Amino acid sequence: MNDERVPEVGSLPSRAGQRVETRCWTLSSIPRLSGNDLPVATNESATPDTEASDYAMEHTADIAAFQEAAALLRHGGTVAFPTETVYGLGADARNDQAVSSIFAAKGRPSDNPLIVHIADRIQLDELVENVDELAEQLIREFWPGPLTLVLPVRAGVLSARVTAGLDTVAVRMPDHAVALRLLAEASCPVAAPSANLSGRPSPTTAGHVKEDLDGRIDGILDAGPTGVGLESTVVETSLGGKVTILRPGGITAEQLMAVAGVKAVSVDPGLQEGATVTDELAAPRSPGVKYTHYAPRGMMYIVEGSSVDVVAARVRAELTKATETGKRVAVLAYDEHLEAYPDHSVYSLGSLTAPEQAAQRLYSLLRRCDDEGMDLILAEACPPKGIGAAVMNRMLKAAGHRIIHTGK
Ligand code: TXA
Ligand code: MG
Repeated sequence: MNDERVPEVGSLPSRAGQRVETRCWTLSSIPRLSGNDLPVATNESATPDTEASDYAMEHTADIAAFQEAAALLRHGGTVAFPTETVYGLGADARNDQAVSSIFAAKGRPSDNPLIVHIADRIQLDELVENVDELAEQLIREFWPGPLTLVLPVRAGVLSARVTAGLDTVAVRMPDHAVALRLLAEASCPVAAPSANLSGRPSPTTAGHVKEDLDGRIDGILDAGPTGVGLESTVVETSLGGKVTILRPGGITAEQLMAVAGVKAVSVDPGLQEGATVTDELAAPRSPGVKYTHYAPRGMMYIVEGSSVDVVAARVRAELTKATETGKRVAVLAYDEHLEAYPDHSVYSLGSLTAPEQAAQRLYSLLRRCDDEGMDLILAEACPPKGIGAAVMNRMLKAAGHRIIHTGK
């Protein structure tokens, strides 16, 4: 499948400040999760006038989409694609100019390294010096999946812009049929940060990608909404079975702890509440987490308290005050408490008993708050357990760590 059908070669590679034509392929017949049962290119023509032929036609369109998108990547272009976490903006991780196009399109600070995506475990050995036994266990347990491993980079293999000068590289294998097929078809390591403008919430739909990057990137593969909704967990392994979480995400601390070889899971002190880039002692080891990411345009506060009633009373008081001064206010609340708030102001984060729903919805709710011109966003906290830890991490970042603690 090395058919070099490069569309619109004239628009390659996407360059800073220059508007490019962004191709969009809408995939219709692709199962979202499962890398094994995708259509492959054949020379068979579709049988007309049957449901099966429609399906085959869709397959043909999808096959062409993969070939075109992969050819763009091989030729130094930038292509956004879905993963199980969020949409990523991919480019050939070996190609300096291609990687530079990612930074330019996103407006991303150049000292923030990128995650390299692979479709096959074998590719990892080409990218890193060695894979320790603990990392190997995590890979067996969680790949493909939302776990990113930081490992010692092999010199000279990747563009130096990918690692931002570090001697390590972050690598993951996404659990999404479209991502895996694109990576396999491109047959190169693909650097891919989330496909949003820097400082905007990560995209969980192709529509979000278009909002931010239309005209700034070469293509978008649209396969519907992503699953997890928050980014992968970034970890480092060390001797004695220690795993350090540099960024909480789709794989939880509890899941990591359950792996046989894992003796301890800790969270990078740089991630603790209030730690900032100026806090030398707590400088985060994952450079990206120091930036105020995921920021909605409105002012956001997390409201915490000893009981639902106390929190709801405080939120209502803030809501009334702000509304009186002409502000537009959104409340992000869990289903169990929706009735405590006026209908027209409240957005559901899903059930408190299923924080994966909040993970799926958070970024698109933040975008919606922006679209609707919200000046103030008041968000309920959830217990930082399981995926709730990643939800709270992203909420706190979105809120710039502004928390209202209510008393009794
Ligand atoms: O789910 C995800 O991980 C998504 C999808 C597209 O795969 N990607 C993503 O990439 O979130 P990005 O660039 O938005 O976040 C990458 C994170 C940043 O916090 C960055 O600092 C960290 O990974 N990172 C990258 N390389 C690193 C390294 N060598 N050491 C420590 N942290 C690293
Ligand atoms: Mg990001």
